[in-house]
Amino acid sequence: MQKFISEKLNGMPVSIFSTISKLALEYNAVNLGQGFPDFNGPEWIFDFALEAMKEGKNQYAPSVGIHSLKESIAKYQKKYYDIDLNEENILITAGATESLYVTFQALLNKGDEVILFEPYYDSYFADVTLAGGKPKFVTLRKPTFDFDYAELENAITEKTKLIVLNNPHNPTGKVFSKEQLNFIASMAVKHDLMIVSDEVYEFLTFDDVKHTPIVTLPGMKERTVTISSCGKTFGFTGWKIGYAMAEPEIITALNGIHQWTTFAVNTPGQHAMARAFHQLDDYLPEFRMLYQQKRDLVYNALKETSFKPIKPDGSYFMMAEIPAGRFESDIDASMKLIKELGVATIPPSVFYGKSDEGKSMLRICFAKRDETLIEGVKRLKTFGS
Ligand SMILES: Cc1ncc(COP(=O)(O)O)c(C=O)c1O
Repeated sequence: MQKFISEKLNGMPVSIFSTISKLALEYNAVNLGQGFPDFNGPEWIFDFALEAMKEGKNQYAPSVGIHSLKESIAKYQKKYYDIDLNEENILITAGATESLYVTFQALLNKGDEVILFEPYYDSYFADVTLAGGKPKFVTLRKPTFDFDYAELENAITEKTKLIVLNNPHNPTGKVFSKEQLNFIASMAVKHDLMIVSDEVYEFLTFDDVKHTPIVTLPGMKERTVTISSCGKTFGFTGWKIGYAMAEPEIITALNGIHQWTTFAVNTPGQHAMARAFHQLDDYLPEFRMLYQQKRDLVYNALKETSFKPIKPDGSYFMMAEIPAGRFESDIDASMKLIKELGVATIPPSVFYGKSDEGKSMLRICFAKRDETLIEGVKRLKTFGS
């Protein structure tokens, strides 16, 4: 059979999320691994979807996305960030995942280099590689997950075409400072690069931390593809509705791939999300408070265990240090915690291409019901006691 399978897949790893979720099921573990809520998004969004279905909005949507959803996105981008967008600046895709895939397919030629901050969201590596590009890594160093400016500039070569930014950041929960964003932007201008900015957790920042879309910095409008996800914002990851925003010429290029990939995204879901964005002002304070409480619950409870947490400013993830000398690696720790304690976490070393830093941490997702979080941490507390 192997002879029938494309070389593109040589060395392509199985997603860690599939591996861990399968094992978590097998051992009936509390799943603090995969990054999605174990509870529903708001009920009123179901109603919007149902109404759309009943109104007969059930056939193919326009390939680029429906008008009202793009209008809603443009409206909130203006209101929250003072960004001016028209319909031509937006492409609706099957989740942020498809936006990422089509962006790399549309922008990369074989041999182009792409800077990834590590730990990186795993689909970047796969997408860049599938598009013929070559990932180059810049490490976000624990515990602050800041990066060395010289390391970024030194990673840029004649072949570099893109810098991929994920802000707020999965898996560390880091929110890049304005100064760091300015430096990244200055590198893009100086070396004539594009930025792919994955901002799916744009609304999940905690305390007084504010999200700044990099596209709002000087010189970035022409150089940025910003990607976000209705699934993350409204807690319906399974609906897979995401979007890319960029200059019209870039959006046309992305659509050149999208039209041959999924062609269009599910129609009633798009209508529901178009209406959901109208409720953003009322919805967001509750949404953020819910997740901030979950972050605090897990952070405070983990401090009482052998797995010391690093407090995140954004996203719904948190890194925790593995107790020294107790496990061979993060993968070893993650497997043993599933099999022996019944708690699933993600070993982050798989998100690094250069540094070993991931081997001493675990990623914990706190987008779970409080009972799930309390039970998971309770089980972790029994370790070593
Ligand atoms: C950083 C990041 N980007 C993209 C995605 C995928 O988003 P979607 O579910 O909209 O495809 C995720 C999902 O976990 C993510 O964490």
